[in-house]
Amino acid sequence: MTKQLRNSRIAGLGHYVPEKVIKNADLEKLMDTSDAWIVERTGIHERRYFEPGKDTTANMAANAARVALERAGLEAKDLDMIVFATLSPDYFFPGSGVLLQRELGISDIPCFDIRNQCSGFIYALSLGDQYIKSGMCNNVLVVGSEIQSSGLEFNDRGRSVSVIFGDGAGAAVLTPSDSLEKGILSTHLHAQGEFAEELAAINPSSNLEQRLTHEMIDDGSTYPYMNGSTVFKHAVTRFPEVIMEALNQNNVTPEDLDLIVPHQANLRITQFIQQKMKLPEGKIFSNIQKYGNTTAASVPIAFSEAFEEGRVKEGDLICLAAFGSGFTWASALIRW
Ligand code: UT7
Repeated sequence: MTKQLRNSRIAGLGHYVPEKVIKNADLEKLMDTSDAWIVERTGIHERRYFEPGKDTTANMAANAARVALERAGLEAKDLDMIVFATLSPDYFFPGSGVLLQRELGISDIPCFDIRNQCSGFIYALSLGDQYIKSGMCNNVLVVGSEIQSSGLEFNDRGRSVSVIFGDGAGAAVLTPSDSLEKGILSTHLHAQGEFAEELAAINPSSNLEQRLTHEMIDDGSTYPYMNGSTVFKHAVTRFPEVIMEALNQNNVTPEDLDLIVPHQANLRITQFIQQKMKLPEGKIFSNIQKYGNTTAASVPIAFSEAFEEGRVKEGDLICLAAFGSGFTWASALIRW
């Protein structure tokens, strides 16, 4: 039976960040860096690191999901699907989606893992949206959760990457919207694999005779690599492009937007988007100062904080946007 298309809407947002605060001064003790360099180049003042034995990628997602479910007025047993975005899964396999399902005390519903790094949450949101639009699901949990700190190199060699990333989780509960004018109006997803190795953690690799070797550990090739300036250049082009794609598709202009919630990659990238789109500062959300770059968790953490700060109101037009490893980039336009 063909079901009539409908929109999905975000019925609840939530986030969880670990308690341990790591200030720039703490990193100064581990590597040749400075608070002044980190603040000037990235805008980051501090970030959160997980507590081993307490926080896991899946249980941080569960903490965020419980808040989102409560705000949506739903219980875990009401969910029809889980879509889990992460680049730092609990295990090589199985995916973190099934672990989150177990954490929430539910079973049987399908669980996806999405591996699209900084754009992962918007990719996941788009997937959940399609299942609701098609009528196959009613309540979909979409999460982004990351533990970066256990995979960073805390010495001079790793400084350009390690100072940027942080840990945390964010979640959204999608339900059907009662109107085609409200909810997720559109999503746009892109990828360009030609740049896959410009921001990547290559090892351990299934392509090798032995996935993990002592040499890899010694030469540091298990750590993430980022060609910062190349990533930066592509980011400042793709962010405005994918936001404008969303606006054009929906016949609205930047002036119609109430809020942009971008992936928190670098405060300078966010400021660039704001200037390029000629937006007042209050219309673009930043919390990278407190959490650093939490990759797939950054958009839902930021969106959830914006909601808590009263910056997401009924009828508001909100654009989510992200760019990152892959390269991948994406946007979602939402009428709240
Ligand atoms: O979330 C996914 C998407 N990611 C992004 O969008 C990140 C995009 N890239 C960036 O945000 C920036 O490229 C970084 C923040 C990573 C780096 O900033 P940059 O302004 O591009 O600096 P740079 O890499 O060109 O390095 C400038 C200098 C270098 O020294 P020399 O060669 O000029 O002597 C680096 O060695 O800064 C040095 N440096 C550092 N100094 C102190 C690099 N890392 C550090 C550090 N502390 N942590």
